[in-house]
Amino acid sequence: MNIILLGPPGAGKGTQARKLVEKRGMVQLSTGDMLRAARSSGTAMGKRVAEVMDRGELVTDEIVIDLIEERLEGETGAGVIFDGFPRTLAQADALEELLARTGQPLKAVIEMRVDDEALVRRVTGRYTCADCGEVYHDETRPTKTPGKCDVCGSTDLRRREDDNAESMRQRLMEYYKKTSPLIGYYHAKGLLHPVDGLGSVDEVEAAITAILDAV
Ligand code: AP5
Repeated sequence: MNIILLGPPGAGKGTQARKLVEKRGMVQLSTGDMLRAARSSGTAMGKRVAEVMDRGELVTDEIVIDLIEERLEGETGAGVIFDGFPRTLAQADALEELLARTGQPLKAVIEMRVDDEALVRRVTGRYTCADCGEVYHDETRPTKTPGKCDVCGSTDLRRREDDNAESMRQRLMEYYKKTSPLIGYYHAKGLLHPVDGLGSVDEVEAAITAILDAV
């Protein structure tokens, strides 16, 4: 079952994608994670990507579509969670074509709704384990032992360069201008399922589970 987690920065897409991987054995394809890997490669492309991401703008459609196409090849498991992709109508059209080739169309688009104030609080308090990718928050989900990942024990916990108020303003602007039209696009296709993303992590997970069990 292929699904999209759609929502503004900090809505909880990555957090819920990790739950689905754990519980349903699905594969998470996060273009944000792929681009962060590209930027740390130190190539000329990686440096250009880093500048765009730090400003809070979207990377070109061509780059992210190529990344997704590469990763989708040979994917035949329990389904893919598209996390942070598509983000423009051009990306949505490209995804439709790619999935038509695999014969595994989209089953559902989960729209995670969270207001701007909560998004800024979530993003500015976030930190992530550099080794296993577990996501934490200063107030709502701190590590049990300060400075140590609950899952893998790593002490390499990091904050993202773009998780600051200025970049966040731009990221929200990009979301409302370029990504939110996808809400209408998927509604028209009968695939859209809104979820109240302001609930606790467990409440949001339960809402997503109910949707996926029903489609
Ligand atoms: P990306 O990495 O995709 O970032 P994003 O969309 O901005 O989303 P985030 O990762 O910030 O948030 P999330 O929704 O995953 O929230 P999380 O679960 O971490 O993209 C980064 C950049 O890459 C973009 O700006 C762009 O430049 C580029 N890019 C990526 N994809 C692209 C594409 N397709 N096209 C073009 N450019 C692209 O949660 C956030 C925090 O809240 C955490 O601390 C978490 O613990 C906490 N939290 C989660 N759920 C809850 C809850 N229910 N209650 C309380 N706290 C919660």
